[in-house]
Amino acid sequence: MKHISIGGLQVSRIGLGAMSMSGYYNVGMGSDAESIRTIHRALDLGVTHFDTAEIYGPYINEELVGRAIKGRRDQIVLATKFGLFSHAGGGPGVLDSSPANIRAAVDGSLKRLGTDHIDLYYQHRVDPKTPIEDTIGTLVDLIAAGKVRYIGLSEAGPATIRRAHAVHPVAALQTEYSLWTRDPEAELLPLLRELGIGFVPYSPLGHGFLTGEIRSPEQLSDDDWRKTNPRFSGENFRRNLRIVDEVKAVAAEVNATPAQIALAWLLAQGDDIAPIPGTKRVARVEENIAADQLHLSAEQIERLNNLAPAVGERHDAGNMAVIDR
Ligand SMILES: NC(=O)c1ccc[n+]([C@@H]2O[C@H](COP(=O)([O-])OP(=O)(O)OC[C@H]3O[C@@H](n4cnc5c(N)ncnc54)[C@H](OP(=O)(O)O)[C@@H]3O)[C@@H](O)[C@H]2O)c1
Repeated sequence: MKHISIGGLQVSRIGLGAMSMSGYYNVGMGSDAESIRTIHRALDLGVTHFDTAEIYGPYINEELVGRAIKGRRDQIVLATKFGLFSHAGGGPGVLDSSPANIRAAVDGSLKRLGTDHIDLYYQHRVDPKTPIEDTIGTLVDLIAAGKVRYIGLSEAGPATIRRAHAVHPVAALQTEYSLWTRDPEAELLPLLRELGIGFVPYSPLGHGFLTGEIRSPEQLSDDDWRKTNPRFSGENFRRNLRIVDEVKAVAAEVNATPAQIALAWLLAQGDDIAPIPGTKRVARVEENIAADQLHLSAEQIERLNNLAPAVGERHDAGNMAVIDR
């Protein structure tokens, strides 16, 4: 597995997102035992970069990751996130990046993860009530205390990134980026490159859509998070299938799977890009990691670059409203 630097932090260029091990997609399928085997298999295949968050569950995803990495902590770049759970009474889903909330959150995350330090600690969403300078200032204190090594932001807009980076170097921005979510290319990627910040694309498989495994919205159960996503609904879903059909055509040419093409395309965008595909299954983690070995021709990359844009917003209105622009 090739390793790259994201803002000075060395990571395997393909990581593993743990979110779907604790609900969200295909709820009820899989098991904690299979999830832990998936994390172990990823480690054995050279993955070092693992991503979780306080809000996933909440809490149970960090606990699961903590159990899985026991005894192997020193092989891992451990990333987690705060700011989508307010410990002052608001609870889950409430934006809170105030200094007091960060101090409460970090100790809980460390305990659940069974570690004394977090390698990459992200603000999960920008909190309009707390100046970003105050948030970063608190993270700088946590670095001084040895609890955190590197700072990340998630779904932050250009102005916030510049302000944060002026207080202390930001190592990585985590934002949705994939063959059907190309928004970061216009403004964010050039800014990150100017500032020397790495980029961690989340949902690099389009929440599973780009793998070609889901051919109709009816395949998703009612408690699947994707039911709330406009791109997975009705007519939008059917129109978006032409994207995955073109990905499949490229996959057939190089004897790969659509998931591998989606990841190889992201890796071809630069050596500062470290996607974190999510899965709770050993076979799929093996498949996804093999994308590290895949080479796409310039012509294939161009065809993928020219795919029709996705139909539908990438989140529902509530989730779009908390994205900083
Ligand atoms: N910062 C943020 O706000 C934010 C938001 C969303 C996600 N994330 C992070 O990004 C990570 C990845 O994003 P994501 O999980 O939303 O989406 P994703 O990686 O684009 O897709 C995950 C989905 O694809 C399926 N899948 C994975 N590999 C597959 C394969 N080879 N063939 C067929 N299906 C496959 C998974 O199913 P199974 O699990 O059943 O295998 C799961 O349903 C998360 O785990 C989380 O750490 C961050």
